[in-house]
Amino acid sequence: MRSICIAGKNEIAIDGLQCIIDNHADLEVFFIPNKNDNGIDGWQPSFKKYALSKGVKQVSLDDVYDIENLIFLSLEYDRIIKPERFKSENIFNIHFSRLPKYKGMYTSALPLLNGEQVSGVTLHKIDSGIDTGEIIGQKEIHIDCKDTARDLYFKYLSNSKLLLKNHIEVLLSGDFLSFPQSSYGASYYSKSSIDYSRISIDFNKCAFEIANQFRAFTFREYQMPSFGAWQIIGTEILADKSTSRPGVVLSEDDAGFVVSTIDYDIRLKKDYYPALWGASESGDIATLQSALAFIDDVDSRNNKGWSALILAAYHGKTDIADILLDAGASLSVCGYNGTTPLMYAFSHYELHGDDRSFHMLISRGADVSAGDNAGKSLKDYMVERNCLDLIQYV
Ligand code: TYD
Repeated sequence: MRSICIAGKNEIAIDGLQCIIDNHADLEVFFIPNKNDNGIDGWQPSFKKYALSKGVKQVSLDDVYDIENLIFLSLEYDRIIKPERFKSENIFNIHFSRLPKYKGMYTSALPLLNGEQVSGVTLHKIDSGIDTGEIIGQKEIHIDCKDTARDLYFKYLSNSKLLLKNHIEVLLSGDFLSFPQSSYGASYYSKSSIDYSRISIDFNKCAFEIANQFRAFTFREYQMPSFGAWQIIGTEILADKSTSRPGVVLSEDDAGFVVSTIDYDIRLKKDYYPALWGASESGDIATLQSALAFIDDVDSRNNKGWSALILAAYHGKTDIADILLDAGASLSVCGYNGTTPLMYAFSHYELHGDDRSFHMLISRGADVSAGDNAGKSLKDYMVERNCLDLIQYV
């Protein structure tokens, strides 16, 4: 029997495994999760959780080195593979760049820092170098001038799923061509190419280059770039030629700063989401109202996956939840586990005996029967936790 082992993380590893499970009952399937996969869904869904839920066997690299008929697929796997240790030659990787450019790390940030307009995802054979193996397939990705590192990362994910779908059958049959990577235009970046603990913006640059630095460091789940005491959510290059020294603040208002550069002045927009989320938790109505004036998406979730409405529901801030709903917040935007705002309002009741948010969300149309990712409804949790005081409402 032939075997396949998928090693990696996130949606791409899940998608690859799902494709194998759905279409290849003839294969023996194994998986290897990344080191930091704790089996819990975060902003990246847990590959380990998914694979175990499908009954796939977890193995280590040592377990698969000696399997002769193995196909090994690395999909955002966090370890460097040594092909000489494998008996099989069928070992492949999808790299998030348009190889031969951007081998190595931080491929969602570096093309932006360098002002690239195109990137890509590449399926290649794994050889003994870092992302240096022969190319089997590639998909180009257009980088929009407003794309952040986070946007580019999600473009990589969706495009790599397509690339894999288009090639999985030929990888399994061995019926594919591969060609060596060109040395011309190749580049490599190591872990030390960006120090995320000391991000600093170089203003002695053109406005375009400064905008690129800001968007390269914009990835809310990891960090946001900042200027003075403010996180910055975006930039706008103005038509005015800069006449002051680069980096001089020309003006500041509630919306942001205007800063001088080598060529054109640039506006740095203040990030009001932390204020929105903080006010939803603390109940500070004045701060909430001012934050609402500067944000585009009231349902945007913080790096724990909580929207402003979820925060208000969980902390029992009924007035805030009311204002958020008036501002268009959705009652069906859930946490990473599919936990609804109403479930969070119920948790608030359980913890504090205060049912006002719970009743208010129902009166505003919350779906009492909605299930979470585990397929459980609020009623199931009330029974499971033996907290039946509100069960008549669900
Ligand atoms: P990651 O999944 O660690 O992969 P890689 O370095 O191979 O790209 O990170 C995905 C992107 O997230 C990365 O390209 C840049 C961005 N990133 C940050 O913005 N801050 C960080 O601290 C890290 C580790 C990554």
